[in-house]
Amino acid sequence: MIRFLFLFMMLLAMAQTNHAQTVSKEAVTLKSVASFPLGAALNPKLLNNALYGRIAEREFSSVTAENHLKMHHIHPEQNRYDWSGGDALIAFAQRNGQRLHGHTLLWHQAVPKWVREFQGDSTAWEQLIKEHIQTVVGHYKGRIAAWDVVNEAFEEDGSLRKTIWLEHLGPDYIARCFRYAREADPDVKLFYNDYGQESSPGKLTAMLDMVADFKRRGIPIDGIGLQMHTNIRHPDRQIENTLRQTVNTGLLVHISELDIRINPDKKPDLVPTDALWQQQKQKFASIVRMYKTVVPKEQQHGITIWNIGDGDSWIPNFCKCQDFPLPFDKQYAKKPAYDGILEGLK
Ligand code: G3I
Repeated sequence: MIRFLFLFMMLLAMAQTNHAQTVSKEAVTLKSVASFPLGAALNPKLLNNALYGRIAEREFSSVTAENHLKMHHIHPEQNRYDWSGGDALIAFAQRNGQRLHGHTLLWHQAVPKWVREFQGDSTAWEQLIKEHIQTVVGHYKGRIAAWDVVNEAFEEDGSLRKTIWLEHLGPDYIARCFRYAREADPDVKLFYNDYGQESSPGKLTAMLDMVADFKRRGIPIDGIGLQMHTNIRHPDRQIENTLRQTVNTGLLVHISELDIRINPDKKPDLVPTDALWQQQKQKFASIVRMYKTVVPKEQQHGITIWNIGDGDSWIPNFCKCQDFPLPFDKQYAKKPAYDGILEGLK
């Protein structure tokens, strides 16, 4: 009888330990272990999916609007602004105590039809961007912590990208956009955001030169966004070097659109293997670890993952191939990549 009682007590103790472990494992989320803001780019339409919303709320402390603050969404006609998508994200972020990062005021790929057809001299074009920037920044004043003011203005070789903005506003338009944004909100953090600095030294140099020039001329700029759409093969040393050089500007550093492709060769019929999942996990871990160790605390604006589940990613559409670049799968189950981020954060 005593032996039976002893066995029963042992089993009870084991069950309690297992329960405690499950509970504490469940309580660990990305944001709970992150020492800097950890964000996700969100699509407000997907928030209707309870799983998507729950992950966005539980795991992340910062939110970027993946698309809904871009000019073609928010300013679809010359005299009409559509705040619905941005306002929905703000409401979500405020409910959950999250920071909202604004993306983006000026991007050549987000030009509404009325702007493409706009006829006017350089003064009219100047008025157009000034009004757009100041209306949007003004609307969200005090509710959006930071803006990507200009997005992707440089080519790989460091020359200015030949966009509609360069054509109508001239080569110093980036500086003027930053000035207009600052006039509309003296407190919001102003970022320049671009992709591929880790693989295009010319673009990295152009961006760093622009920051030095802004500092000399007193143009307001607070941070740099390194988008970091990367893949499992990209050498860590190039990423680390890009981080170090960006840190040297003294500005805030944001890894602003992180995703990691497992199919860099764009095979149309790629079937993921455990080995690929593990490589993706390691790359997430090493990028997060590099950010944590290379970027001083006071310059850490954070890391933002470019959406949540593989089914929400822009990549397959873009590469016309199979790829799975995010930390959750299409059913929103955690992938090894999720554990990689956790590992890097710890
Ligand atoms: O929502 C509509 C849907 O109703 C429609 O049926 C479908 C048909 O194509 O389109 C859907 O909209 C798409 C939208 O993504 C939402 O998925 C747009 O066509 C598509 O152009 C849009 O692509 C976005 C792209 O920027 C262009 O704005 C991607 O989601 C977004 O991830 C991507 O993000 C950019 C960053 O802003 C800047 N850095 C590069 C990054 C990747 O291109």
